[in-house]
Amino acid sequence: MSSLGGIPARDGSTAVLDTAAFARVTKIALAAAGLSIPESKRTMVQSRLARRLKVTGIPTFDRYLDHVEGPDGAVELEQMVSALTTNVSHFFREDHHFTALREKVLPGLLERARRGGRIRIWSAGCSTGQEPYSIAMTLLEADNRIDTHDVKILASDIDLKVLAAAKAGQYDDRQMQAIPDALVARYFDRSRDADGERFSAKDRLRNLVSFRQLNLMAQWPMRGGFDAIFCRNVVIYFSEETQASLWPRFHSALTPEGWFFLGHSERIHDPGKIGFDTVGVTTYRRRAGTERNSTY
Ligand SMILES: C[S@@+](CC[C@H](N)C(=O)[O-])C[C@H]1O[C@@H](n2cnc3c(N)ncnc32)[C@H](O)[C@@H]1O
Repeated sequence: MSSLGGIPARDGSTAVLDTAAFARVTKIALAAAGLSIPESKRTMVQSRLARRLKVTGIPTFDRYLDHVEGPDGAVELEQMVSALTTNVSHFFREDHHFTALREKVLPGLLERARRGGRIRIWSAGCSTGQEPYSIAMTLLEADNRIDTHDVKILASDIDLKVLAAAKAGQYDDRQMQAIPDALVARYFDRSRDADGERFSAKDRLRNLVSFRQLNLMAQWPMRGGFDAIFCRNVVIYFSEETQASLWPRFHSALTPEGWFFLGHSERIHDPGKIGFDTVGVTTYRRRAGTERNSTY
């Protein structure tokens, strides 16, 4: 997909992301969103940012990056980060986590909620909403009246575009395949448009979830106290150093003995040092009695 000697790449662009411009992109992406982009992704980055050049009408990467780093660059910086992030998600992805949620996490929480306590779950890096809605379905399946209690799922992402899609809660047939038919019938309205069948999350599901933009690299405005945090397939795009800086923050955002779920290729190295116990595959719990070790 690269452009050689002015021959247009497959995306139609002739602009070349040379070594210096690529280095600038990686520096900006790291500072803005914690993203660590290896050299092997240069062609992909060129292709994705070529689309931004086209939209903004800026002819070269150098001038584009000058704009992003300039005084009026904030809006385009968001677009740039959005272009560089990977947003793939599925319903009930890594379903062993939902089994753990149903069988191990929820029984105690439900009892507490029925006695008037609260349940707070955070989907950090929620992309287009499949993860928080899968959590919401698991909650409603565990207790059909759970939405009469003080229960909230916070779903956050850095990318406003995916958050808008998550809020809209509309999916096509292909995206719905991992959801059992009975759950589709209970939690989604079906309709048909020119592109085929559409499935819209019902209000019951949507009302359990609050969406907000949040960059994990920035201060976290929430007061914490999450019973479970799902941060899956997000930190894989961060440097080791950035990952290490996040673990104490997640630890502190959990309730004592709160649960922490990571994606399949993500791990906390030396969890005990931060105050986590490993309790399953990519599944951790804040160790009872450990102090908060960060104020976010
Ligand atoms: C691959 S998706 C994961 C979605 C979902 N958690 C799952 O496992 O299916 C990664 C998400 O992380 C978000 N992300 C990347 N960097 C972020 C940051 N610094 N702060 C918050 N979200 C970020 C991206 O916008 C993207 O939507």
